[in-house]
Order: sequence, then C-alpha cells, then structure tokens
Amino acid sequence: MCGIVGYVGSREAVPVLMNGLKHLEYRGYDSAGIACLNGNRNFFIRKEKGKLSVLQNVLKSIPITSHIGIGHTRWATHGEPSQINAHPHLSHHGDIVVVHNGIIENYSELRQELKRHGYRFHSDTDTEVAAHLIEACYKGDLAQAIQKAVKRIRGFFAFVVMARKEPDRIVAVKRSNPLLVGVGKSENFIASDVSALLPYTDRVIYIDDDELVQIKAGEPPSIFDLKTGRVKKKPVSKIPWNIEQANKGGYPHFMLKEIFEQPEVISRTLKACVNLKKEINFEGLNGRAKTRLKKTRKIFFVSCGTAYHAGLCGRRMVEEYARIPTDAQVSSEFRYGDPVLSSEDVVIFISQSGETADTLAALREAKRKKAFTISIVNVVGSSIARESDAVIYTYAGPEIGVASTKAYVAQLLTLALFSFYLGRLRQQLSGLEVKQLVLEAWHIRAGIDAILDGTKSIKAVAKKLYRKNSFLYLGRGYNFPTALEGALKLKEITYAHAHGYAAGEMKHGPIALIDSSQPVVCLVPESKTYDKMLSNMEEIKARKGIIISIATKGDRLVRKMSQYVFPVPKCREIYSSILTVIPLQLFAYYAAVFNGRDVDQPRNLAKSVTVE
Ligand code: M6R
Repeated sequence: MCGIVGYVGSREAVPVLMNGLKHLEYRGYDSAGIACLNGNRNFFIRKEKGKLSVLQNVLKSIPITSHIGIGHTRWATHGEPSQINAHPHLSHHGDIVVVHNGIIENYSELRQELKRHGYRFHSDTDTEVAAHLIEACYKGDLAQAIQKAVKRIRGFFAFVVMARKEPDRIVAVKRSNPLLVGVGKSENFIASDVSALLPYTDRVIYIDDDELVQIKAGEPPSIFDLKTGRVKKKPVSKIPWNIEQANKGGYPHFMLKEIFEQPEVISRTLKACVNLKKEINFEGLNGRAKTRLKKTRKIFFVSCGTAYHAGLCGRRMVEEYARIPTDAQVSSEFRYGDPVLSSEDVVIFISQSGETADTLAALREAKRKKAFTISIVNVVGSSIARESDAVIYTYAGPEIGVASTKAYVAQLLTLALFSFYLGRLRQQLSGLEVKQLVLEAWHIRAGIDAILDGTKSIKAVAKKLYRKNSFLYLGRGYNFPTALEGALKLKEITYAHAHGYAAGEMKHGPIALIDSSQPVVCLVPESKTYDKMLSNMEEIKARKGIIISIATKGDRLVRKMSQYVFPVPKCREIYSSILTVIPLQLFAYYAAVFNGRDVDQPRNLAKSVTVE
C-alpha cells in the first residue's frame, strides 16, 4: 500500500512526480505529498489530506523549479489521514526528508529514544521516526546514514530519502515492500511499482530486500548490499506493458475498461500458453518444476481476496482433471497455521500484484518448509514472482481498478489450463482430450463478448436494486467461488452487505434472512448440481425472496422462477465460472455508480495490500 515515486534528471521534477503519483493513486489515496530540492539546497514540501487532486490544485498556484524530488500517496497505517501525517516527513533539523511504505514495528521504542535526545515529533506516524533516525546517523553521507539507521529498524519498509546537503541524489532501501528503479537517458526514477514509470521508461532494475540504491542524473544507478556495503551488479529488465494499457482509454472508470478488456485477456492467455498443436506449455515451468509436479503428493493454493476465490476454483480444477489432492487457503491463515508441508508438496501462490504481504510471507514459510513453490502472478518482476521457485505469468495487463476483474478471469483460465497440463503430465488426460478442452477454451472469448453485449439490461437491473443494502449470493461447485467473488465485488465498491455461500449451506443458516425484501443472486448455469440449485431456488421462492439468476441462455425454467436473469452462453462446467462472474462484475459496477460511489478508489481499500 502507499505509492512512492522519486525523480532526478533534467526535467521539471514536480510534473514528473505528480504524474507518477497519478498512476500510483490506486495504492492509497487518503493523502499525498511531494518534496523537492531547489538550487539553494532548500526543501520545498507540500502535502495535503485527501485525493491527489487536492494537492494538484494547491501546486497549481506555486511555481517550483527543481530537478530532483520524491512523492508519496498514502494509505494510513500509523496515524489517521491528515495533512500532518501525510508524507514526505522532514527530520528534526530539516536535513533529511523521507517517504515510506511499510511498518516500523519498533517505532514506539525508537520514538522514545529519539525524544530523550531532544528530537521533536509533529506527526503520529512511524515514518517520522525514520526521518529523525537517519538524521541522527548522518555525517555527510546519506547512503551510510541510511545503512546505519536501518540496522535499528524492525519491520517492513521501502524508504526513499533525500538529504539537503547532497542535492544531487536520492537514496532508497527496501525490506519486503516493493521498490524498483526506472532507468532513463541522463535521468533516473524510483517507484513502488511500474505504473509510475511507464510514461517515461520501460527499463527497470528490481531492488531486492536489503539492497540500497542511489540514483543521480546522468549516471547509472548504484546498488549496494545493505549489510556488507558491497556494490552489486543487477540486470536491467524490460517492462512488457505500455502506457496506453495503464490509461482509462475513454471509459469513465478503470473498472469498466478492465471488464471490457476481458475477451482480449482470454485470447492473450491462450496464445501465450497453447501452441499450434493445441498443446499446453508454461514458459516459466522448467524441468525441475515439471519433475516436482509429476511426483507431488499434494498441491496447495494460497492467496488473498479475489485471488483466493481463483484458488478455490483451481482446487476443484486440479482435483477434477489431474486427480491430485488439493487444498486452497487464505494466505494469512496458511502462514500462521503451521502448515504440514514437506519437499513432496507443491504450494502455488496466486496474486495479481505479486506484492501482497500475507501471500509473500506464506511463500517464505512454504520455502522454509522445503515445499516447491510456484506463483501465478500478473506483475512481471514482482516480489512473489521473483522469490518463488517457478512462475506462471497471467496476461491480464496492468490492472488499476481496486476491484479486481480481468486479473481474476486471467487467473481462472490459467488455472484451467494448468489443471489440463497437470492432468496430461500425470497421465490422467490423453493428448486428444487436452486438445478438445483447449478448443472449447477458444469459445470463451465469444461467450464474454455476448455477455458484454447485454450490459444494458444488467445496468437496468442494477438501477432497480442499487438501494438494497443486503445481498445473498449462492452457488455450487465451480460457481461457489463465483458466489464469493460476486459478493466481494458488490461489497467493496457499493459498501452494501453481501455474502457468498455454498448453496447447500443455505438451509444451515442464511435461509433465515430470506423474505420479500431480500435479493438472492443464484448461480445456476448447466452443471452437475443444476437440479440442486433449482431446489434451492424453490426454497427462496417459497419465502418470496427476490431471485436474480445467472443461467444458461435459453433456460426457461430458471427464467420462470426468477425476477431477473442474466444469461450466459452454454459451456463446459470448468469454464462456467469464467463466464458467470462477468454479469456480477457489471452488476456491482453499476450498483456502485448509481450509489455515487468512487468505483476505482473505494473507501479504506488499496490495490495491493503490502502490509499485514
Ligand atoms: O494482488 P493480489 O492478487 O495478491 O491481491 C489480493 C487481494 O488483495 C485482492 O484480490 C482484493 O481482494 C481485491 N480488492 C478484490 O477485488
């Protein structure tokens, strides 16, 4: 959470920082600030509570000439959102300025110690501790001061720092929280994620934990090992995304744009993972990964939020097509649950951002226990991708809307293909069967297109129901995770209460909620459990609940039983969850719009949760 950006070069720093922050705002948006150094070695710091636009308006009237600066957009951890708690933070004597992403666990102890030495604190943040501490360690060399200060700090962080007396450089350091350097011609950038860099460069250096980086204009970035102080040589990588992908492209919100990109995501994924002979291949699965997958006794999927729902689908897919016992867990439970793992197990981490703190910690726990780790990740070069033994990238492209849509669909299709691949590897499926499955996967694109063509009627239903503040979502099999996902989408962007349930559980409690005012979303495409879903719907109908069904196109029975129906094209059951989630994304989107919610930046949320 929190977005960080830094720039040094010949351009005007303020527009570069503000543009970078605009692309990072999805990481946190309760306050924002920048700090620049001018020719007289004076810091100019401006920060404001609220969205970036508040800061932007303030800066309009202040002309600042500077070629070096840092910026931050905040998601509050320590201290409420306020101007004082916004970053950057200035040190006691005004020599050091810091922006920070992460948590300093021993901040209270350090704060007391610094106070005893006369340091005065103005904010409630842990970051101000770092500013004072670095200043206390400063003897004219910023890199050395940071190296010394960080030894005292417990926790997770990415710090980006400037010193008044060294106006030509920015120094940054990281432990756990993401940081990368953008390499330009005679200019350099630093950021917490690639989207801030896309307008300027596609050449990046990923900073690893316990590395310190120094950037200046006109010099290649220098990277040091934090512990030894030794210089490290690191490769420059190319970002596979472009700036157009990170813009709204004429849509009112990123979320809507991303929903409409889903047909393309299907094609991209299939093109990347299926060859002309219709065989499935994952570039990131090397010989070692194949051997481990061939022999594994159990697979675990570990992830958070929407990615956890993908994991639940993945579990069913792998059990059905590869017949390997599989479990799906939420990262925060897995990491603290002392999971029973050995070198015979494979743990697969699913993450759009590749930076989710709990998933990263769970990955480290699995590695500690010698399991083989694979990640399914969207952001190339992210921490989870780099730390796992093997990586399968998803082809969603940059996802900016806080509510995940296209990344989920990319995860589901990747998982389906992965389960067929595993089935073939374990000789549960013949080559011919895989070909048939792949052939059918190519129809998903047209299926999504057809659903998107019906957007108007989904919008009309949202208009009728958007004032309701409690929704139940029910599904079975592959569509139980869709029920969870549909409910999550609705609650995160409309703030209505929405609960997803396995439909078979309805009689064990949720049925008590049903009366004539209760909307119930029923996922009832053709499936093994279709009849069971119909029985559930009868029970809802008998209690006069408002039924909104997601059903196979042309299903008259379901139409008769429901007040509203969102049709989806007929498909094989494993693919149904890829289709059924689309109307639910659109329904949530329009319900949020009618409620006047901030769709792309819902309250209290951030795109990637990089703190525990
Ligand atoms: O980047 P990740 O996939 O690891 O993120 C996991 C969750 O934080 C994320 O899916 C979250 O639940 C979304 N806001 C859901 O729309």
